[in-house]
Amino acid sequence: MNTAAWIFFGVFVTFASAWLGIVILPQAQLSDLTPQQDEISGALNPPPYSGEALRGREVYIANGCMYCHSQQVRGGDWNADLERGWGGRRSHPLDYIHDAPQLLGTMRTGPDLINIGARQPSAEWHHLHLYDPQITSPGSTMAPYAFLYEERDIEGEPSPDALPLKGRWALPPGREVVPTPEAKALVAYLKSLDRSFEIEE
Ligand code: HEC
Repeated sequence: MNTAAWIFFGVFVTFASAWLGIVILPQAQLSDLTPQQDEISGALNPPPYSGEALRGREVYIANGCMYCHSQQVRGGDWNADLERGWGGRRSHPLDYIHDAPQLLGTMRTGPDLINIGARQPSAEWHHLHLYDPQITSPGSTMAPYAFLYEERDIEGEPSPDALPLKGRWALPPGREVVPTPEAKALVAYLKSLDRSFEIEE
């Protein structure tokens, strides 16, 4: 073979092996993942997101939550993700089958959130925390998302959704703070982040 043919052959092999390793092998290993069925309850793991949780996922993306929060628990001895209580096992490709795109994140200014729904199931806690993180987590560096809430006059009975604001957050009589549909959807999404089911490998 002449030199040009060798160069062509070398370039071809380089690109073909990269394509095999990066595109074809992962596709073969991961493309047919399907939800697991729990033997006792019959529930699907992971369950599909509800419509409200999917809208909340958009709010999560739009507000840049992933710039401070990851959604991936690492295993192995070289990190402390499991000791920090971010999950009972390392994350698995199955955990993300309903996510497009996946919101793995790279920054961990705040805790990992892939299991926040299991760790913190209270909607009220999430609303107070989003309204002002200082209420539930004094000293937090997380920004308040008060713009996802509406302060308004109480008309008739107070709303059952009104936040129980006390102390320096207490409102003048006759006023209440209620979550907007965006805040409710975001909290539905956070509560659905629960990948604590066991994986049959
Ligand atoms: C500037 C970085 C930053 C951004 C942006 C941010 N957070 Fe946080 N978040 C933190 C930090 C720091 C903590 C830990 C202290 C605390 O609980 O407030 C935290 C804690 C949390 C927790 C509690 C986690 C736990 O394990 O108790 C939740 C839930 C949460 N954030 C949700 C969100 C959501 C939803 C958004 C987007 C609307 C968001 N965060 C945006 C920094 C951030």
